[in-house]
Amino acid sequence: MITILSGTNRPNSETKLVAQQYFSRIQTTASEPVKFFSLEDIPADLVQIEMYSGPGQSNDLALIQDEFIIAADKLVVISPEYNGSFPGILKLFLDACSVRELKATFKGKKVALVGVASGRAGNLRGMDHLTGIFHYLGAAVLPFQLPISQIKSLKNEQGEIEEEQTLAAIDRQIQDFLQF
Ligand SMILES: Cc1cc2nc3c(=O)[nH]c(=O)nc-3n(C[C@H](O)[C@H](O)[C@H](O)COP(=O)(O)O)c2cc1C
Repeated sequence: MITILSGTNRPNSETKLVAQQYFSRIQTTASEPVKFFSLEDIPADLVQIEMYSGPGQSNDLALIQDEFIIAADKLVVISPEYNGSFPGILKLFLDACSVRELKATFKGKKVALVGVASGRAGNLRGMDHLTGIFHYLGAAVLPFQLPISQIKSLKNEQGEIEEEQTLAAIDRQIQDFLQF
């Protein structure tokens, strides 16, 4: 099973729209089930000191972690660029998951990274940071990482990317990842 993870809880984020588009494209070629999860839907009680003790953790987080992360053998992490890296909420989510169950959550998983930015860098640095973290956690990261820069200029009125080169790059990454 593959999970597409939209890596911010910012309402109306561009990242979620990219992630939804990625989700519908990968579903047309993947032979395995694909699920979608957005950090917009993480439980409000995640941010509490009990996140550092397994038994005191949020029950809702456990359900999300079991269904979308532990059950997946592959993750596509789509993250916006916030201050030259990926969002803090994504690190908090990864940290909380690691406290509850590190090995089943991360070890041996395959991860593809997509960066989304209004600027020119397409979150390249944030994807480097995520690569280091996923390698530390025992996951393998697909070498083909996809920076999507100047996101607003790539989209139509429905909020979908319609620029051909970016769509072709998304499809190439999907092909690579399905064979990874
Ligand atoms: C807290 C914050 C920090 C940001 N920092 C950067 C940045 O360092 N570089 C950049 O290109 N865009 C930056 N942006 C703009 C985002 O890349 C832009 O909003 C883009 O649409 C992706 O984020 P979104 O998914 O939240 O919409 C920042 C946005 C926020 C909310």
